[in-house]
Amino acid sequence: MDYVVEVVNLRKVYRMNGVETYALNGIDLKVRRGEFLAIVGPSGSGKSTLLNMLGALDRPTEGKVIIDGIDITGLSDSKRAELRNMKIGFVFQSYNLIQRINVINNVELPLLLRGIPPNVRRDKAMHMLREVGLSHKYKNKPNQLSGGEQQRVAIARALITDPSIILADEPTGNLDSKTGKAIIDLFKQLNRKGRTIIVVTHNMEVAYETDRIVYIRDGRVEKEEVLRNIVTEVEN
Ligand SMILES: Nc1ncnc2c1ncn2[C@@H]1O[C@H](COP(=O)(O)OP(=O)(O)O)[C@@H](O)[C@H]1O
Ligand SMILES: [Mg+2]
Repeated sequence: MDYVVEVVNLRKVYRMNGVETYALNGIDLKVRRGEFLAIVGPSGSGKSTLLNMLGALDRPTEGKVIIDGIDITGLSDSKRAELRNMKIGFVFQSYNLIQRINVINNVELPLLLRGIPPNVRRDKAMHMLREVGLSHKYKNKPNQLSGGEQQRVAIARALITDPSIILADEPTGNLDSKTGKAIIDLFKQLNRKGRTIIVVTHNMEVAYETDRIVYIRDGRVEKEEVLRNIVTEVEN
C-alpha cells in the first residue's frame, strides 16, 4: 500500500506557565495516496495540533510523522522548512494571504522561495488561478475579493508546488454554506486528479463529502468511518 502519511503513536504536550496540556495522546494514522480524508472532533480535541504536526509546522513530544517515506520528526528546522515547501500545501481558515501584494504574487510566493525565475513563476501561477477559476482577478488585491475567492487563491498558492499532500484546517469555517460547498467541490475535483487531501472540519456535511472520516477526541482517534473505497487509478 502506498501511504503519503504515516503517524505513529503521536503525542504532544504543551507546557505553558507550569501547566501541561496533553493535546495529542497517542495518535496512529495512515493516509493513502489519493485519499480525501476528513478529521472531525470537538473544539480543543487536538485537530489543529495534529495537522500542524503533519505539516511540519510543529514538533511532536513523542512519536513519528512520516511523509512520503521520510521521517520528519528528527529533521532540523531548515530541513523541515524545505520539506514543507517541497511536499506540503497548507490552507488555513483565515486564508493567510498577504494583503499588500496582488493575487498572482500571492500564488507564486512558494516558487519565489524556491528561487524559480519570474516568468516561470508567473506562468505557473496563472495556470493555478485558472484551475481555481480566478485567472480574471489576478491583479486584484486579496481584500478586493470575497471570502470564497480568497480561499480559492489560498488553494492555488497551496497547490503551485505540486505538493504530495494538501492540509486544510477548517477551510470553510469563515464561509457561508454555499461558498463553503464550492470550496469542497474544488477539493473534490483536485482529489479526482489524484491529490491527497486532509481537511479538518466541524461541519459534518463537509466531512461526508470525503472518502473517510477520522473522529478525534481528547487527542486520540475515537473511531473512523470509511465512506468510499478509493480507486487506485486517477483521472487526468
Ligand atoms: N501553542 C499552544 N500552547 C498551549 N496549548 C495549546 C497550544 N495549541 C493548542 N493548545 C491546546 O491543545 C489542545 C488542542 O488544541 P487544538 O489542536 O487547537 O484543538 P482543535 O483544533 O481540535 O480545536 C487545546 O486544549 C488547546 O488549548
Ligand atoms: Mg483547530
